[in-house]
Amino acid sequence: MNETQDTAIALDHVSKSFGKKQVLRDVSFSVARGEAICVLGRSGTGKSVTLKLMIALLKPDAGRISIDEDDITQLERKELSRVRRKMGFLFQSAALFDSLTLHDNLALPLRRLTDKSKQEIEVIIDHVLGQVGLADDKGKMPVELSGGMQKRAGLARALVFEPQILLIDEPSSGLDRITASEIDDLLLEQKTKHHTTMVIVTHDVHCARRVGDRFAVLDQGRLAALGTPQELEHHENETVRMLVGES
Ligand SMILES: Nc1ncnc2c1ncn2[C@@H]1O[C@H](COP(=O)(O)OP(=O)(O)O)[C@@H](O)[C@H]1O
Ligand SMILES: [Mg+2]
Repeated sequence: MNETQDTAIALDHVSKSFGKKQVLRDVSFSVARGEAICVLGRSGTGKSVTLKLMIALLKPDAGRISIDEDDITQLERKELSRVRRKMGFLFQSAALFDSLTLHDNLALPLRRLTDKSKQEIEVIIDHVLGQVGLADDKGKMPVELSGGMQKRAGLARALVFEPQILLIDEPSSGLDRITASEIDDLLLEQKTKHHTTMVIVTHDVHCARRVGDRFAVLDQGRLAALGTPQELEHHENETVRMLVGES
């Protein structure tokens, strides 16, 4: 198979600093279409920065970042919006608007960014809320939702544009084990049913092992390892072994 056609996301010699602090050093890896990659690493090692680079919320100091055929580091705003439309992202905090109902939180991006009719928008909202098990909660305000429900709401919002690519930062942070595994189930379903390409930053090895096809391990800003969990279990780097091992 042609490798470029098969690649959804590619980081090619990417480096990123903030002031004097170098966060990512010459990081290269790619994510195949339909693949789920889990990014593991200690706190502060550049995992969230890596996701933000992938949707061009940040620009690398060096290197290329491709989404499908587009190098997003070179795109004009309008072109970038076109590429971003293929992507859904769920940040660490679900980032819902507190003053809007769940329904309106989902309707807002659809009203703003598409010319879909009111009726079409309602169909999409019902569909994505059904997908994440919140069909009966659309009139609720974010404060009325539990932590797990807020994550699911954030996921629903990430799904409204039926993204080919999902970028997810710490899906299970702040959730109990059972609620976290419900989120894992949703991600797994998204991958198997819709073949969505996923990059998931996680501390949760259970989640990583269930959902991830491969792990990318960052250590001090470098890509320390890339491979299946089985491949990395006996890796020479102790940090890698600790991060991918069953906890
Ligand atoms: N916008 C920013 N401005 C300055 N420093 C940042 C910014 N974003 C991240 N950093 C720094 O980059 C490093 C990596 O951050 P991050 O990717 O959030 O780590 P993590 O691996 O825990 O997700 C941290 O030292 C953080 O303080
Ligand atoms: Mg982070």
